[in-house]
Amino acid sequence: MKILLTGGAGYIGSVTAKLLIDHGHELTIIDDLSEGHLEALDPRAAFVQGDLGNADVLHKAFSKDPFDAVMHFAGSCLVPESVEHPSLYYHNNVVNGLLLLETMRENGVPKIIFSSSCAVYGEPEKTPITEMTPQKPTHPYGETKFAFEKALKWYAKAYEITAILLRYFNAAGATDHLGEDHATETHLIPNVLKAALNELPYVNIYGTDYPTPDGTCIRDYVHVLDIAQAHILALELEESESFNLGNGSGYSVRQVIQTAEKVCEMKIPVKECNRRIGDPPILVASSQKIQQVLGWIPKHPSLEEIMRSAWRWTQKHPKGYASTNDKNPKIKHQKSKLQCKT
Ligand code: UFG
Repeated sequence: MKILLTGGAGYIGSVTAKLLIDHGHELTIIDDLSEGHLEALDPRAAFVQGDLGNADVLHKAFSKDPFDAVMHFAGSCLVPESVEHPSLYYHNNVVNGLLLLETMRENGVPKIIFSSSCAVYGEPEKTPITEMTPQKPTHPYGETKFAFEKALKWYAKAYEITAILLRYFNAAGATDHLGEDHATETHLIPNVLKAALNELPYVNIYGTDYPTPDGTCIRDYVHVLDIAQAHILALELEESESFNLGNGSGYSVRQVIQTAEKVCEMKIPVKECNRRIGDPPILVASSQKIQQVLGWIPKHPSLEEIMRSAWRWTQKHPKGYASTNDKNPKIKHQKSKLQCKT
């Protein structure tokens, strides 16, 4: 298929792009490189650099090929930053998404696969989370993903577009060449591994008084390659659907740190802090629907395996990719002021 993929220089987008091309699909990637990295771009893809809010960028990308599908990864994805800068999130995740959708419609592209998030469920009372769990987001990031999901549902109905919503739980891990490198790193596993490499003095544990067995938050970590594989399967689907994308097993922050200590064969220094704003205590997926409908079976479900892959990548790239945004003054990024209040 000919596919337009937004955010193909980012973490999940770059891994998916490579897998798609390996499967014989032809890709055009749009990325503004505000969070992505040139080194993560697959050289086999056509590349248009720019913001989805720029009509010229969209026209340039869509003038290349009649696409069979769009995969929309580009967007802002940090919960604390979204609380600080909701306008950035509404702009990137809703306004730019709608511009993409309009251009898709004008050009008759029949399918979109959208990178949504478990954040659309907010703080559900019951676990595991199914697709029937009520959607009640509790922060601007989740709210903007939910808003775009709703737009997609109506567009799909009115304009005969197939819209497949993939609600990722906690993407983690790496391939041999592609890994996680954000301008401002807020995610647990990269920070734990940075602390193991002495790139950070310690890892913060945000909250030790949650209603969980060890008092720290529980998440469902899913290998980025398994997420990418779900996109390949979703391409075959002819009906609009939404799916949770997680392993179905939850690990606490302390369990993640213990797993990293085993994999890295060292003690990792920690600092216990107050809760971080917007963090639900437990987010664990039921992935029954995607397993039944798409036949998706995670090939790398073990947290230890996920951690080993991330550790291999982090050791090879202790400071991330070479072309980080911090080294590119042309790219402005609004950084969050995340503080650890003990
Ligand atoms: N955490 C720490 N220390 C850190 C980083 C994180 O204790 O240095 C904790 C967080 O408080 C949270 C857990 O580790 O309890 C996981 O945090 P991450 O930042 O790794 O991931 P989140 O669960 O916050 O975020 C993920 C996705 C988002 C998505 C969100 C839904 O990255 O895109 O789940 O809540 F929106």
